[in-house]
Amino acid sequence: MDMTTKASQAMWMTVLVLALGAAPACSQGESQPQSAAAAVPADLQSGEQKFVANCSACHGVGGVGTKQGPPLVHKIYEPNHHGDAAFQRAAANGVQSHHWEFGNMPKIPGVSPSDVEQIVKYVRWLQKQAGIF
Ligand code: HEC
Repeated sequence: MDMTTKASQAMWMTVLVLALGAAPACSQGESQPQSAAAAVPADLQSGEQKFVANCSACHGVGGVGTKQGPPLVHKIYEPNHHGDAAFQRAAANGVQSHHWEFGNMPKIPGVSPSDVEQIVKYVRWLQKQAGIF
């Protein structure tokens, strides 16, 4: 491969990277153009902390999923398909694997119903940021 080809390939890579980097993180067309990385609102921060402490080991920081569990920031878990009661049930009783191949979710004894309520508010916010509903 001659130098000219290499240089032009490098140039196209740069163009591609710039184009991708410039793409809007959120194409919702909403009034506040927040990305998924937007700062967590103050009233959701205790829910975030509880999520990190009790859920993110499997559901991932920011609810994006891990090898141990599915993303909660996912169409499947939007409010009309998995309402807030499904979150309460999941924490209180655990979940029999049915949507994915991660295995069962154990019950999470460290959280009270009001903790889960705060966690759900945080997860709904993440889902909204991601344009899921
Ligand atoms: C040890 C890993 C683990 C932890 C910790 C965990 N989950 Fe899960 N969770 C899972 C797995 C795996 C599934 C998927 C089960 C399936 O295949 O549908 C799941 C599913 C769910 C569901 C879907 C329930 C349904 O009805 O389908 C909800 C809601 C949920 N988790 C919420 C939480 C919340 C809230 C926490 C923290 C309080 C939490 N999870 C902690 C592993 C975990």
